[in-house]
Amino acid sequence: MGFRLGNTEFRYGLLLAPMAGVSDRAFRQTCVDCGAEYTVTEMVSAKALCYRDAGSERLAALSEGELPCAVQIFGHEPEIMAEAVQRICREIDPGASMPTAIDLNMGCPVRKIVSNGEGSALMKNPALAGEIIRAVCAVSPIPVTVKIRTGWNDSSRNAVALAGIAEENGAAMICVHGRTREEMYAPPVDPETIAAVKRAVSIPVVANGGIFSADDALRMLEQTNCDGLMIARGAMGNPWLFGQIRAALDGRSFELPPLEKRLETAMRQVERMILDKGERVALPEARRQLSYYIKGERGSAETRDRLNRSLTMEEFRSIVADFLRRGE
Ligand SMILES: Cc1cc2nc3c(=O)[nH]c(=O)nc-3n(C[C@H](O)[C@H](O)[C@H](O)COP(=O)(O)O)c2cc1C
Repeated sequence: MGFRLGNTEFRYGLLLAPMAGVSDRAFRQTCVDCGAEYTVTEMVSAKALCYRDAGSERLAALSEGELPCAVQIFGHEPEIMAEAVQRICREIDPGASMPTAIDLNMGCPVRKIVSNGEGSALMKNPALAGEIIRAVCAVSPIPVTVKIRTGWNDSSRNAVALAGIAEENGAAMICVHGRTREEMYAPPVDPETIAAVKRAVSIPVVANGGIFSADDALRMLEQTNCDGLMIARGAMGNPWLFGQIRAALDGRSFELPPLEKRLETAMRQVERMILDKGERVALPEARRQLSYYIKGERGSAETRDRLNRSLTMEEFRSIVADFLRRGE
């Protein structure tokens, strides 16, 4: 396990997945603090970047020293995708970091994206997928990676073919989410197809899907022989999963911090979100993030309701303090 991308070496190959509305700078930092080696931004529209949409530019901008991190873009036009990559790599704000890689989204199942021929729809159009990868690789000064699913549906599991196309056209790494587009996010995950991709290409292969515990991670590694693991929902409210997996791989024991410490981490994340985006934008997203940190704990439902009605960071703080004092 582990791989190299450009000049960067990943000892374990533990990645935080791109998640729209979730893997913002604050969450990426939290996950790195807890053991993730590499993160990916939320997906950014290539077209919007070309139109200089300020919101998209913010999504694609890494903070100073924020590494390793890939910027993920989506789109369906090779020239637009290539132009977006040139903008990302050339027009970096002073103080921001050059990304480690550009990741191409070929897995998003959302109807709005797919109906434009983007995201996982590209798995139905391997020729265009290849053209996009080639066009982006031709202009990108940094490695280009591709995130795919196992296929469009059960009768079209073409991840192996697509991975071959990605490799031929210059991709430096491929990540396979072990579900088809039709399966969306439902279990189970298909490790056999990921294993077949790993056997078929010589670039690093990262496995993704359904990793919620260190045992899940070890099983995925064993079943696929992949070079790295990408975690999405398992890290929400539990960024310590990365440390847990590292410990399991090293044969060490791991102790989850107590609830109070976990909530300190969560509140630090919320503070960073507010610094980055301002209270108005950050608070609705922060409510969701905080709910994951308290999920399954006694009193979490009532606390979630209070969080949903709260309007300021100060209220957040007092709700979290009440939650920690519950039952005293
Ligand atoms: C809220 C949410 C947002 C997501 N956004 C993206 C995205 O922007 N780009 C992408 O490639 N995948 C996205 N995904 C898919 C994840 O990266 C990942 O492939 C999927 O959730 C399976 O991994 P998991 O079982 O560990 O959650 C998203 C998933 C979730 C739950």
